[in-house]
Amino acid sequence: MSRIVYVNGRYVPYAKAAVHVEDRGFQFADAVYEVCQVRDGHLVDEARHMTRLTRSLSELKIPAPMSAAALAHVMRETIRRNRVRNGLVYLQVTRGEGPREFVFPSQDVPRTVVCIARAVAPAPQHTTAGEGIAIKTMPDIRWRRSDIKTVMLLPACLAKEAAHGDGAREAWLIDDNGYVTEGASSNAWIVSREGTVITRQIAPAILAGVTRATLIDLLREEKVPYQERPFRIAEALEAREAFITSATNTVMPVVSIDGQPIGDGRPGPLTQRLRSKFDQFAAISGA
Ligand code: PDD
Repeated sequence: MSRIVYVNGRYVPYAKAAVHVEDRGFQFADAVYEVCQVRDGHLVDEARHMTRLTRSLSELKIPAPMSAAALAHVMRETIRRNRVRNGLVYLQVTRGEGPREFVFPSQDVPRTVVCIARAVAPAPQHTTAGEGIAIKTMPDIRWRRSDIKTVMLLPACLAKEAAHGDGAREAWLIDDNGYVTEGASSNAWIVSREGTVITRQIAPAILAGVTRATLIDLLREEKVPYQERPFRIAEALEAREAFITSATNTVMPVVSIDGQPIGDGRPGPLTQRLRSKFDQFAAISGA
């Protein structure tokens, strides 16, 4: 089956899908995006993703190209046309196209909207979760507005590339004070010796992960103690468990940081429990 991409109001074949060479997303990374998990053909956590997208647009003063409901419809339609059962859907909105000028164009310039859906086989993901992943630490060289989900992802690419070179799946970014901000494309978590789940508080330094917010709801429901505060790598190395969260990974166990094992070097029991709780939530959300 041929893949279909949504571009500015049309559903076009993947090979023909294109935006203008002077699109501001291409020239300035003047664009925001969302990545949502698709489970059994439906969007997981749709409302939270749409709320975050609306906020990202408004923080950058990009006029919304259409209502959040219409954008969600585009995502669902792209999933449907590509017959994606399990995978992800990517939505990007740029400030539009025009001669290269730093100053914003008129508000009437139509925004560019692109939506791509991709099937991802669940089995390899389960295997990875069973083994856990390695983390490499890298300095956080991003700008000071990491709370906005922009496509300005070069620091994340550099960090992930370095991690990959060292056999690690994800990088944890370290701020100037030695604290972990978050993963290159995920939120970072540890479980203390006492069993308290710890993740950095929401602030401009990190992205307010949708998976993070839903997991905090689940922690409350499960009466698992948690704290939202920064932690350093020294504390993470003493932790009982560690994990990351993102729409593409859900809850993914971390078993080593910079080559040093976390806990007994295997996925932790609480992490595994939270992963299956999240799975149950994802299976019913939007169904
Ligand atoms: N990344 N922090 C960063 C820097 C991220 O890029 C992401 C998501 C997250 C987790 O957010 P959420 O739980 O809403 O996915 C945290 C996506 C998956 C990506 O860029 O592919």
